[in-house]
Amino acid sequence: MSGPEPHAKDAPAAKSLQDGGTIEPVREILWGSSAGVRKYETAEEVPPEMRKLVVKLLVVQADTEFASIQQHRPWLDRAPTLEDRWIESRIIADEARHGLQACRILRDFGEEGQKHIDELLQKREGEHKLDAFNMKFDRWSDVGAFTCFVDRVGVYQLRAFQECSYGPLARAMPLMLSEEQLHLNFGSSVLRRMVQDGPKYSGTKEEAQAAVMKWYPRALDMFGHSNSDTSRRAIEYGLKRWTNEEARRRYIEEVSTLVSSIGLELPRPEFDRHVL
Ligand SMILES: [Fe+2]
Ligand SMILES: [Fe+2]
Repeated sequence: MSGPEPHAKDAPAAKSLQDGGTIEPVREILWGSSAGVRKYETAEEVPPEMRKLVVKLLVVQADTEFASIQQHRPWLDRAPTLEDRWIESRIIADEARHGLQACRILRDFGEEGQKHIDELLQKREGEHKLDAFNMKFDRWSDVGAFTCFVDRVGVYQLRAFQECSYGPLARAMPLMLSEEQLHLNFGSSVLRRMVQDGPKYSGTKEEAQAAVMKWYPRALDMFGHSNSDTSRRAIEYGLKRWTNEEARRRYIEEVSTLVSSIGLELPRPEFDRHVL
C-alpha cells in the first residue's frame, strides 16, 4: 500500500532499522516550532497552549474506536463466512484495545482526562463526533466499504501522529498501525469478493458499488476542513505531520488505484460531501 510520506526528516529509528542496526527511540521533536527540543513525555510537560489540542485529538481518536465497536457488533454472528466472523471478532477486540490505549494516555491528564473518559464510555450509537461513526452497517457491503475507506483514513491519522512531539502518543502508534492494516485489507477483500463472486459469496457488484458511494464521501469528510486552523496548529506543535488537505489528497490517490483494481468506481471527491 502506498501511503503518505512524512515532511519531516526521516526518523533516526527508521534509519537505523534500514541500516540493520537496533531501534533507538526518537527523543527529540522532529518538526514544528519546537523541532530539535526533547519530546514532551508527561502531561505536566505539555505547554498549556498545546494541552487542549492533545486532549481533543485523543478524545476524537478514542471516540472513533468505541463507536466502531458498536457498528461492527451486530455482524459478529451475521457475517457470511466463519472466517469473516472470526475477523469481525478480531476487529472488535483491536478497536477496544485502541480505545483503551487512547484512554490510558488521557488518564495522565488528571481530572480533565478522566472527565472525558467517563463521557466516552456513556456514548451510544448516533452520539459520536464524526458522521462516519453514527451510520449503521445495514448490509455486509457496509462492513466492507467502512473498513476499506474509513479505517484507511484512521491509518492516515495514526501515521500523522507517528513520532509526534508527545512521547506517549508517538509510542502507541506502531502496534495500532499494524492492527489497522488488517482491518483495511479485510475491507478491500470483502469488496473484491462481492465483485468477483457475487451471491456465491455475498451480495452483488451493484451492492458493493452502492456502498462505495455511501462511505467514500464520509471518509473524505473525516480529514476535516481544508483551511483548518486546528490542523495548522497541530503541525506547529509537532503533533501532526500533514495538513488535512495534504493527507486527503494522498488518500484519494491511494484509493483511486485500489478501487479501480477491484473493478469499482469512485465518485468525484466533491460528491455528497458535508465537510469541505
Ligand atoms: Fe482502531
Ligand atoms: Fe480499525
